[in-house]
Amino acid sequence: MLENLPYFQQNLAADLGRVDVVINRAVQSEVALISQIGTYIISAGGKRLRPVITILSGRALGCDNDGLYSLAAMVEFIHTSTLLHDDVVDESELRRGRKTANNLFGNAAAVLVGDFLYTRAFQLMVGSGSMKILEVMADATNIIAEGEVMQLMNIGNIDITEAQYLQVIQYKTAKLFEAAAQVGAILAGASAEQEAALRDYGMYVGTAFQIIDDVLDYSGDPEQIGKNVGDDLAEGKPTLPLIYLMNQGSQAAAADVRAALQNADRSYFEKIHAHVAASDALSYCIEQAKAAAGKAAACLDVLPDNEATRAMRQLAEVSVARVM
Ligand code: IPE
Ligand code: IPE
Ligand code: MG
Ligand code: MG
Repeated sequence: MLENLPYFQQNLAADLGRVDVVINRAVQSEVALISQIGTYIISAGGKRLRPVITILSGRALGCDNDGLYSLAAMVEFIHTSTLLHDDVVDESELRRGRKTANNLFGNAAAVLVGDFLYTRAFQLMVGSGSMKILEVMADATNIIAEGEVMQLMNIGNIDITEAQYLQVIQYKTAKLFEAAAQVGAILAGASAEQEAALRDYGMYVGTAFQIIDDVLDYSGDPEQIGKNVGDDLAEGKPTLPLIYLMNQGSQAAAADVRAALQNADRSYFEKIHAHVAASDALSYCIEQAKAAAGKAAACLDVLPDNEATRAMRQLAEVSVARVM
């Protein structure tokens, strides 16, 4: 997804190589199953978007501290642990083009190894020696958990508002993008204004990113996204395309969406997918994502114009245009 950005080829690929060294070391445990499952999900790849944001955020302010690699790895560990847990909760079977850990190793192992990665992330954080970074991450992880529970409480909720949806995605997803940017800024010794700008950049990019994730659950190609489509509907998750149909779609579409959400069954997918495709639900969602990405880019206006901030602007665009 980022490979086409010039800055990626010149600088970021090498930085990510350094991040992977930390990741591969930190995933090791004397308990063989932990290393096995940890390596299984980590070696499957993933876009490494959050570590990229940490690195770019630091570099935007001229940070050349190697501690940036540990922080980037830490952020990816938090992300990976939430994926292990999320796939159990969502009963998902495919992730990063492979069987999910829960599918292959069972729910118990996936949850427990998720806990290992989660706590390993805190060990990496402590290594930074920064109370501020610990505070940002403690708050962020707490909010992510709240977001996942809020989402659970909204399963089958046909009355959910767009504002409630936005709060869920800001908590469950955008918060980690926000923290990823903020910790890079803190390590770089950002001023309060710069730190706030990078934090808000992360929040808006994360919002755009999750809206598109929710679009791809209806329109993506499983080969490209590495996940099955239709998981959200199968679970009864009222994401933005469905909220749009319930509010602005035809009467028939709105009624079918309500039934699908309340019954939470994959068998509705074909019908709902047809309603989505026949409406402007997805273009509406993409417009919302674009607006968020535009706000992200605008946050960077108070920062120096350099290669890193230019890459961050491109990243905001790519998080909307992505097909994976
Ligand atoms: C998946 O995130 C979870 C969401 C917040 C949508 P990514 O799409 O960044 O997952 P990977 O790391 O690239 O697999
Ligand atoms: C991802 O939400 C959010 C977190 C993992 C915290 P989703 O459930 O939409 O992500 P995918 O589609 O499984 O990647
Ligand atoms: Mg999921
Ligand atoms: Mg999803």
